[in-house]
Amino acid sequence: MADEIPLTRNAVPQARAEAIRDAVRAISSLPGDGAASRVPERADAPALLAFFSDPAVSAPIYSIPRPLTPENVEAFIASHRQGQAEGRSALLIREDEVGEVVGYSEFHVWPQWAAGELGGALHPRLQNQGAGGRGALLTFNWMFDALDLDLICETSALDNIRTAKLLERIGFARMGEIVSTRPDGTTRPSIVWELTREAWRARAKA
Ligand SMILES: CC(C)(COP(=O)(O)OP(=O)(O)OC[C@H]1O[C@@H](n2cnc3c(N)ncnc32)[C@H](O)[C@@H]1OP(=O)(O)O)[C@@H](O)C(=O)NCCC(=O)NCCS
Repeated sequence: MADEIPLTRNAVPQARAEAIRDAVRAISSLPGDGAASRVPERADAPALLAFFSDPAVSAPIYSIPRPLTPENVEAFIASHRQGQAEGRSALLIREDEVGEVVGYSEFHVWPQWAAGELGGALHPRLQNQGAGGRGALLTFNWMFDALDLDLICETSALDNIRTAKLLERIGFARMGEIVSTRPDGTTRPSIVWELTREAWRARAKA
């Protein structure tokens, strides 16, 4: 999670921020039309490592553990479990019937601003068939409804055309560019996108 985002920061009353933290702590699965999702445990690290090892999954995502080692994936799971206990992040995986990870979602939430970020990827064999777009829309709806956020802020690599198209279609506004820092200290430029609750509601009514 970059310290530079979200770009829009509207403080909410403490009681509202606390309720958002509680909603994040309560996350156990996500809406979806495919396999059920769940919060991974330490024992899921090898399956998650295998999923992240494909550059078609990990190359566009700045927050994936780097270098990609078993220890760093275990630490990534542990850090999200701690973040969820504190109501500020969550990690979920989806598996197929043989236990292979076929998707993951990562949330960063700023309860004090009722804002959040979603990151994620699908297994390469499931990409480019519309599932990512459908799943992202369901999850963004859920972030406004179940987490009660006012703002969703996303970042994408400059050449991530699929993510740009997906976000534009859903109604995200392109807000500018920042430099995102990966866990190994390397950096990449990112486009910043934001969608407010008002804009989301207006599109839902249209
Ligand atoms: C990003 C990701 C979740 C999107 O899911 P997906 O199922 O592959 O994407 P979709 O089939 O829903 O397509 C998304 C958009 O890209 C378009 N698209 C798909 N393939 C494309 C291509 N090769 N070139 C240009 N546009 C393309 C689709 O038409 C769609 O646009 P639309 O929403 O205007 O219809 C998935 O590709 C993925 O896991 N990528 C790797 C990790 C990643 O980039 N994560 C996001 C980091 S911010």
